[in-house]
Order: sequence, then C-alpha cells, then structure tokens
Amino acid sequence: MENLLKTVFTLNGKRVETEVSPTMTVLEMVRRNFRLTAAKEGCGKGECGACTLLLNGEPINSCLKLAASLTESDSLVTVEGLENDELMQSVQSAFVNEGAVQCGFCIPGMAMTSYSLLKQNPNPTPHQIKQALSGNICRCTGYRKIEAAVSKASENRRSSK
Ligand code: FES
Ligand code: FES
Repeated sequence: MENLLKTVFTLNGKRVETEVSPTMTVLEMVRRNFRLTAAKEGCGKGECGACTLLLNGEPINSCLKLAASLTESDSLVTVEGLENDELMQSVQSAFVNEGAVQCGFCIPGMAMTSYSLLKQNPNPTPHQIKQALSGNICRCTGYRKIEAAVSKASENRRSSK
C-alpha cells in the first residue's frame, strides 16, 4: 500500500488540507477527496481537455498533474467554484442557448477553457477561440456550436456593460 502524503492548498477560495497517494492526480483528488465531479476523465493523458481546471488562474489538464505537487501557494478552481461567477454563468447560458451541449461530457472542460480565454481576452476573434479550444475534444457537436457559444458569451458580456 502506498504512503499517504498531506497536501495543503487553496480550493475554490478556501484553504484545504487532504491526504493523497504519491501517484494520485489532481483530477482524481478533486473527484474522490472533495466530491467535485464536474471535471471528467476522458483520455487520462493530456489529450482531450475534459479534466480542465484552473491552477493559479491558468487552465491545466488536471489528469497530468500530481496532487502531491500542490503547495500552499497554489490556488485551484473547479467549475463548482465558479457557480456564482457572472462570466461563467454567461458562458454556461451561451452554451445552452447556442445548442452547444449534447452528451455533456466535454462541457465542463470546454466551459473552463472558454472562461479562461474570455477572462484574459474579453473580445476574442474566431481564430483565437478556435486556438484556445484546440486542446478540448468533443465527440458530439462538431465544434461550430461551441465556438459560436463562446462568441455569443463574449458579445453578451459586451452588450451588458
Ligand atoms: S482527461 Fe485530462 S486531458 Fe483528457
Ligand atoms: S457534448 Fe458530447 S463530448 Fe462534447
């Protein structure tokens, strides 16, 4: 049996402490130890983006990062941590309104990546949207509706200001 390691970091704005095995990924930790199950494991090897979380404000493939590598200065955010965030709400409504959600498996990762893009660049071009989403795979929608949803979220944000 593997030894458990204590890890301390900030999760969705709160300082937390948990025990992880040396081989546990950040994705497994948020799902198992914290029951935050929005992020999904698709490929488990950094190719599909279904596990995207924000670490210190940047999107990461959480299936590739070891939980034991988190430190006290790290701040991890999951989709659940953004449920009252206006920008995330506007991304989620645009996905629904544009018909960009089918089975839903990829959507938490897509929403995280889109959120991070719009946070850094509130007015992205279609090319920038495509580029930002290039690490997120969807088996259902063919991407056009997802890209349209991100454009719409950006448009809605501009018109609400
Ligand atoms: S599950 Fe992490 S990139 Fe696919
Ligand atoms: S909606 Fe099914 S994988 Fe994207």
